[in-house]
Amino acid sequence: MKNILVIGTAGQIGSELTMHLRNIYGSSNVVGGYRKTMPAEEVMESGPMEKVDATEPEKILEVVKKYKIDTIYNLAALLSAVAEEKPQAAWNVGVNGVYGILEIARENNCAVFFPSSIGAFGSSTPLDNTPQDTIQRPGTMYGVTKVAGELLSDYYFKRFGVDTRGLRYPGIISNVTLPGGGTTDYAVEIYYAAIKGEKFVCPLPKGTFLDMMYMPDALDAAVNVMEADPSKLKHRNAFNITAMSFDPDIIYNTIKKRIPEFEMEYDVDPVKQGIAESWPNKMDDSAAREEWGWDPKFDLEAMTDDMLKVIGEKHKKGLI
Ligand SMILES: NC(=O)c1ccc[n+]([C@@H]2O[C@H](COP(=O)([O-])OP(=O)(O)OC[C@H]3O[C@@H](n4cnc5c(N)ncnc54)[C@H](O)[C@@H]3O)[C@@H](O)[C@H]2O)c1
Repeated sequence: MKNILVIGTAGQIGSELTMHLRNIYGSSNVVGGYRKTMPAEEVMESGPMEKVDATEPEKILEVVKKYKIDTIYNLAALLSAVAEEKPQAAWNVGVNGVYGILEIARENNCAVFFPSSIGAFGSSTPLDNTPQDTIQRPGTMYGVTKVAGELLSDYYFKRFGVDTRGLRYPGIISNVTLPGGGTTDYAVEIYYAAIKGEKFVCPLPKGTFLDMMYMPDALDAAVNVMEADPSKLKHRNAFNITAMSFDPDIIYNTIKKRIPEFEMEYDVDPVKQGIAESWPNKMDDSAAREEWGWDPKFDLEAMTDDMLKVIGEKHKKGLI
């Protein structure tokens, strides 16, 4: 990877991934692509930025040529809960957009990173120790777009030799940019409530186990899979990766151990509940471990210490 374009730079993952890639590959070699939402000042000012819409291939092509891009991180998507409100728009970004970007990659010899999700599974998938290769019949538009993206990525590698690679991310927990409307957002919001001294109202019921991961591990995974020795990759796309699995009660009690006065109550959102119940409780990520050395650093305890420290400092400074 020499010249990289990130599409979706203003998002929860994109805002941190752009900075992470700039630290590794050099600021001037990583172009941040954003659409309507403006990325943070730090991102805007630390390297080249371009207005890029995932559904407008002409503009993407212009940027690819201008900066001699050889690797595209395509993060643009409507997340699970938002996609259920706007399924047509979710299809347009998540399928038509992905197709357009793969075509540009084919014609311009670019590698492409595609972030799939635990949302690519559905209720007929084995939900415990979910295998790498298994039944995928998601019941959400988000899931439909992710399965399509996984298959298109596989197809473009097999048919045209495009260097496509990707991960099935679990819920990502972070403290820089707030999440964009997914089913696992609660696991970020709970930390903000705890630090602000607010009672947390949880939209998922007790007993809803989901895979999760702290952002530093998600960033390392995105770089490591793209840098992996291709001769060792049997899957290339859609690697299951996870770092922890918990339900609302477990994360609540992990925070309460550190902030005893913290309180939580449940007010279940039936849409989010339905989505969460159709997703794995815990994935088997042994293929990622074997093929490119996936090995997360943060478990729930270590992540909680760091989240409370970072968000606590922001709160003291009046930033949240
Ligand atoms: N955050 C998670 O927990 C998680 C988990 C699994 C997979 N993912 C995947 O990772 C990727 C990034 O997720 P995120 O959490 O940063 O999402 P986000 O919603 O925070 O950010 C997505 C970004 O894409 C942008 N975008 C939307 N439509 C666009 C378009 N047409 N053209 C260009 N940009 C557009 C949005 O403005 C936003 O900045 C997505 O593909 C998502 O499905 C995220």
